[in-house]
Amino acid sequence: MAPMPNPSLSLWASRLRQNQGIRSLMEDLGQVTGHPDEILLGGGNPAHIPEAEEIFAEAFQTLAKDPKLGALLGDYQAPIGNDRFRSLAAEYLSPHLGYDLKKGNIAFFNGSQNAYSYLLNIHSGKMLDGSFKKILLPIVPEYIGYADQSIEADAFLATDPEVIPTGKHRFRYGLNKTKFDLSKVGCVALSRPTNPTGNILSNKDIEWMEERTKKQNLPLLIDLAYGNPFPNLIGSEEPIHYRDGRTLSLSFSKIGLPGVRLGMVVSDPITIETLSSYAAVGNLAVGNLGVYLMDILFRKDILTNLSKNILRPFYDKKRELALSIFESEFKKHGVEYEIHDPLGGFFLWIRFPNMSVTNHKLYHLCKDKRLFIVSGHYFFPGLNSDFSHTQDCIRLTYCRPEEELARGAHILAEIVASHQTKSE
Ligand SMILES: Cc1ncc(COP(=O)(O)O)c(C=O)c1O
Repeated sequence: MAPMPNPSLSLWASRLRQNQGIRSLMEDLGQVTGHPDEILLGGGNPAHIPEAEEIFAEAFQTLAKDPKLGALLGDYQAPIGNDRFRSLAAEYLSPHLGYDLKKGNIAFFNGSQNAYSYLLNIHSGKMLDGSFKKILLPIVPEYIGYADQSIEADAFLATDPEVIPTGKHRFRYGLNKTKFDLSKVGCVALSRPTNPTGNILSNKDIEWMEERTKKQNLPLLIDLAYGNPFPNLIGSEEPIHYRDGRTLSLSFSKIGLPGVRLGMVVSDPITIETLSSYAAVGNLAVGNLGVYLMDILFRKDILTNLSKNILRPFYDKKRELALSIFESEFKKHGVEYEIHDPLGGFFLWIRFPNMSVTNHKLYHLCKDKRLFIVSGHYFFPGLNSDFSHTQDCIRLTYCRPEEELARGAHILAEIVASHQTKSE
């Protein structure tokens, strides 16, 4: 029997309670027991890289000895950050983002996830003119964390992407220009590199969309959590610059500091002021730790070198290693598979086109063996079609140690092989 609806819950709350995507993923991270058999290929934690951790530890020690520690621990920051930190970020980011940024272009949040929970609601839902506007995700799959951030139901819009074969066992999603329709849209949002696929939308495609969004004065939100200027995991692709009409978000998480919870938004002063109102109501203030750390990392210009000389080489090597480990297990077990070209970020998006079970069932079968992956079905908010990839793709991280990747690949290949429909 279906449970009785709880009369003390709002529509929004009951919708949130049904959402098992980002919550299940983060709860998996939090429920890790430390059992030696656990294989954690699910969550979005960055890798623990000793050289990077040494740099962060040194910055922490500087803060701990600083006479400003009293203020760090004992004073509130302004809702989106004190002016001096916002000015410093504007000055530091200007050359990286190709724009003469001012403090009025900068807002800090307790993680970029926190920023998006406001940003998406600023630009979607019931508008001042009475219309209802949606968030267009121009290519799905797209970041699981956006789904259900809108207070209004049914706020996302997406269409089937182009699926472009790029080689043996490889494919890529492309922008489906024929279905690009802005008539019900309040903003367009994408992550670059894209979590979960590792796709990187070309600047040419972004400019194609921007020609259209500009005509309707619609903001283009570009999430740079894995992108430039840090950690800059964008392979050989061009960086993104700030321009009028764009809202960029940056994060300290994927450089190795997810526990610090610092996200930054770069946008026009009206959007930034609106975010400040939201932040005051929802957060009171951004946390101090992240902005004080940023002060050190930006002043000493540490992140450019960190990204170029430590993070990029580390993740490049890991990606190649993970590809060879997983592909050799798949071949050994006769698994049919396709992998999205991993152009950036640190995930593999893998399709098993011949499975007799859904990706959600596969997730549970893996979890039973203490292997954590993420089912791909969560990554298609707003898509109302029977696109097969919603049922047969998974995401996994390659941030984990080699032996864990190897055990994970073995278990995954065995499970998929035993749940394939016979190929003719
Ligand atoms: C694409 C993308 N955007 C935003 C976030 C949120 O990051 P944070 O809130 O830690 O800055 C993540 C985290 O996994 C992400 O993958």
